[in-house]
Amino acid sequence: MPFYKDYIYPYFVDILGDPVPIRKVRQQIIPLAQGKVLEIGVGSGANFVHYDSTKVDKLYALEPNPGMIRLAERQQRKTKLNIEFLDLPGERIALEDGSIDTVVSTFTLCTIPSIVDAIQGLIRVLKPKGKLIFFELGLSPDSEVQHWQKRLEPFHHWLFQGLYLTRDIPALLVQGGFQMEQMGAGYVAQFPKSLSYCWWGTAILQSGVRHS
Ligand SMILES: C[S@@+](CC[C@H](N)C(=O)[O-])C[C@H]1O[C@@H](n2cnc3c(N)ncnc32)[C@H](O)[C@@H]1O
Repeated sequence: MPFYKDYIYPYFVDILGDPVPIRKVRQQIIPLAQGKVLEIGVGSGANFVHYDSTKVDKLYALEPNPGMIRLAERQQRKTKLNIEFLDLPGERIALEDGSIDTVVSTFTLCTIPSIVDAIQGLIRVLKPKGKLIFFELGLSPDSEVQHWQKRLEPFHHWLFQGLYLTRDIPALLVQGGFQMEQMGAGYVAQFPKSLSYCWWGTAILQSGVRHS
């Protein structure tokens, strides 16, 4: 349904995706970005205002949905950031190997269709001492909440255009070649528990991880 995806869903994400508890985490982690930054699935640009523009030389803002890019361009005007939009999926990052200091993903690894390929792409573009900043939704440790996450996933997968409620993102990051540097976790925001279990923090490359 291209009309829903391009015109309704972007406004849903814009309105629902930044309540105060989520914004507080964004304020805590996004200023850690520095140098050449790649943000995947920037959506309506909710993170843009939280970057420290004195530390960010350039922000590659990857987003495949043109409706999202239209909203993100409005946010861009509120910042001094040097932003280049890349209208590509995160599984096909058109940047050179080892060229990026910081990769940012907030609520994108929980949405992106091919997360394993996306993680390999992030590892490929990161410099050896590069950092991933993440804030993602996913599988609760509570079995009762997991039960509801499994039941509700198909509906939310449609409503939020690909959102998964049952991914264990930290485990996938570690399997893919990242090593956690710092991580917080818990139910964030006033949404039902099935929709609000999150992890946030930073990760670096495991030593010896291969650039393909
Ligand atoms: C839940 S929204 C999060 C938006 C934003 N990062 C935020 O924190 O508010 C998920 C985003 O992932 C994007 N997305 C979906 N498939 C993608 C893909 N294959 N590659 C990159 N981004 C994708 C969507 O268009 C959407 O903007």
